[in-house]
Amino acid sequence: MTQFFGTNAFKFGLFGINCSGGMAMSVAEDRWKADWQEITEVAKLSDEAGIEFILPIARWRGLGGDSDMWGRSFETFTQAAALGAMTKKTGIFVTAHVPVFTPVFVAKAISTLDHVTSGRVGLNIVCGWNADEFRMHGVAIDGEHRYDQGLEWASVVERILKGEPEFDFKGQYYDLLGLKTDPLPIQKPRPPIMSAGSSAGGQAFAAQIADILFTTFSSLEQITASMHSLKAQAAAHGRTPEIYGQTFFVCRPTRKEAEDYYYYFAEEKADLGALNYMKRQKTATISKRTLAGETEADRTIMQRMTEPDRLGVGRMEHSTGKRYSGMFPGIYPIVGTPDDVVAELVRIQQIGIAGATAVFMNYLKELPYFVQEVLPRLERLGLRQKVRETVA
Ligand SMILES: Cc1cc2nc3c(=O)[nH]c(=O)nc-3n(C[C@H](O)[C@H](O)[C@H](O)COP(=O)(O)O)c2cc1C
Repeated sequence: MTQFFGTNAFKFGLFGINCSGGMAMSVAEDRWKADWQEITEVAKLSDEAGIEFILPIARWRGLGGDSDMWGRSFETFTQAAALGAMTKKTGIFVTAHVPVFTPVFVAKAISTLDHVTSGRVGLNIVCGWNADEFRMHGVAIDGEHRYDQGLEWASVVERILKGEPEFDFKGQYYDLLGLKTDPLPIQKPRPPIMSAGSSAGGQAFAAQIADILFTTFSSLEQITASMHSLKAQAAAHGRTPEIYGQTFFVCRPTRKEAEDYYYYFAEEKADLGALNYMKRQKTATISKRTLAGETEADRTIMQRMTEPDRLGVGRMEHSTGKRYSGMFPGIYPIVGTPDDVVAELVRIQQIGIAGATAVFMNYLKELPYFVQEVLPRLERLGLRQKVRETVA
């Protein structure tokens, strides 16, 4: 496989810029609006700063509540063609919902984008969880079997992308004839595939198909256990994926500024309506399989992470890793000065995590400070190379 993500010891994927609200469940006025002009500015800045990839969220409707988080979203394949033409180095992911795309469509779209971007496209495979979104397509989600369908789908896409001679496929979910595509992708044997499940079924699926696995992140202990579990599951299939964590940055010149802002947008301005809708929808499609050591009652990350005793009571000190209601479940908040942020990233990297999402409340306002203050500190520690050294 090509060196899609370069050689940095700790990598970043800018996550969620195509959707209103980004990854914050908040009604705060300066929340992300997903304005196209702003999206392109952030994408270009991230490209120039050497951020490894841009990862969009595939959505068809919002979460309701007072902010209708994700109510506005740009479609990820179309967006990838546009952003690919505006950028030079960064990887551009698309996110495909298995139930609404055929494998041969995705294989052709990925090949097209790989040529448009001169070999910079990647595929995020998601099996879906919000039945309301799929009703818009006239498709029902079967919570118990969605990952079985995903496995068939992914295997077909991969065979087409690798250029297997024309073949037929007959499985439990697909009966397909004469499969092939031309052109094939530039990246060999195929572009990178990522997946990010939080349930046991989702993790088992990701471990079988993905080169990059995003795992939920609630504490350093939890992500360490999750990383080992994912690596072991992948090894059982002869795979050695990179494990990434989901992080949200609130970085300011002083710790007090960062903590006050985190409290403001994620607690005072939390959108509980959106959170409750998501919780209901995810619970409805969750599979009955459990993670090791879990009971039926706490089998979803959504349930685990929104329990009252895990949420903040009043204003917190030292907010890194602490949850308020408006912090997206499964994402780890890193809050503080550039030195605080770097210290936490070093701890995460030392665990063996290969990279993390770059998420901000308002990407356009906050990414420049992160690029200016956090990335150079990581370069000085040898965790990232200066951009000019990584330019081909
Ligand atoms: C980094 C990341 C990106 C994701 N992108 C999407 C997405 O674009 N669309 C989507 O429906 N789900 C997305 N998900 C959700 C998961 O892929 C998965 O569907 C979700 O965790 C629910 O499934 P599970 O509870 O069975 O794991 C994403 C998750 C992560 C961590």
